[in-house]
Amino acid sequence: MKADQQLYATACQLMAGKKGLLAMDESTATCNKRFKAEGIPETEEYRRKYRELIVTTPGLEEHINGAILFDETIKQRTASGELFIDILINKGIIPGIKVDESTVPMARFPGEKITEGLDGLRERLEAYKSMGARFAKWRAVFSIAATLPTTPCIKTNASTLAIYAALCQEQGLVPIVEPEVLMDGNHTIEQCATVTNHVLHAVFDALYLHQVYLEGIILKPNMVLPGIDSSEQSNTEEIATQTVNCLLKSVPAIVPGIAFLSGGQPSIEATERLNTMHRLFDSRLPWALTFSFSRALQQSALEIWKGNDTNKVAAQQSLLHRAACNHEACKGTYNAEMEK
Ligand code: 13P
Repeated sequence: MKADQQLYATACQLMAGKKGLLAMDESTATCNKRFKAEGIPETEEYRRKYRELIVTTPGLEEHINGAILFDETIKQRTASGELFIDILINKGIIPGIKVDESTVPMARFPGEKITEGLDGLRERLEAYKSMGARFAKWRAVFSIAATLPTTPCIKTNASTLAIYAALCQEQGLVPIVEPEVLMDGNHTIEQCATVTNHVLHAVFDALYLHQVYLEGIILKPNMVLPGIDSSEQSNTEEIATQTVNCLLKSVPAIVPGIAFLSGGQPSIEATERLNTMHRLFDSRLPWALTFSFSRALQQSALEIWKGNDTNKVAAQQSLLHRAACNHEACKGTYNAEMEK
């Protein structure tokens, strides 16, 4: 019981003060893909430099409670030899770790994916805990298409998320449970709402079945959005309303917090949507509702940095600015003036 109370306390710390989480857990392949787009060398040293830029951003802790690291990053050090994880801890930012081993095609289900990484997970969690991690993350993905997602894909990923969450809690780590319904496609916002609702119900069913302590998790869902190629795009109010309604229907009130992924939304739009949810619905929300963005926090900083040391301070200012804007959004007090 004491262990459960500790999980609850950590989850509350992650959600405290209407601050958010910073996802900096891109796998090597994903990080390299983003580097390539900016003409940055795809090497371990450049990834190290970039992550050093992020963790040493002055003032980041004013808006960020937790940072999600990747296996390579949790072991890396600054040029002066300090472990990144120690820098975060000293700033009061709680370190977390991505523990899934990415997605693979689901056999006999074209277009669908399952997430791997359960083999040896108990031992890896133990090792990350001893390095100082206090929470973990596992992402499952679901595509929307005419016949997708299928029930077997939803059930398998939901069970896997639940087994992962139970293993995390066994080790005293708060699991971030991330079922992501992807934006790709030409579906309507209503289709996204239906699928997201269905997926979240399956995930909470599985968490219940596996006796996961719901007070000791954080949910990391997508916002409810029309497909990126849909001819019917939605305004901010509609997105905020659909998203909050969907979450109210499917996420138990006892869950301490929900932290959105950004999923490829433009950075400012992600902030505006989060802000509108709070502006319109704050009094109705039973859980903390915040951000756990990667791209929507980092993209502008990466574009400024371009692998060049002389751009480091400007890149850090840009990262800090996005973190500050999203922190305001969690209070419903963000406005377009902040972008000037
Ligand atoms: P994005 O915010 O870029 O979607 O990344 C969040 C994340 O952690 C994906 O797993």
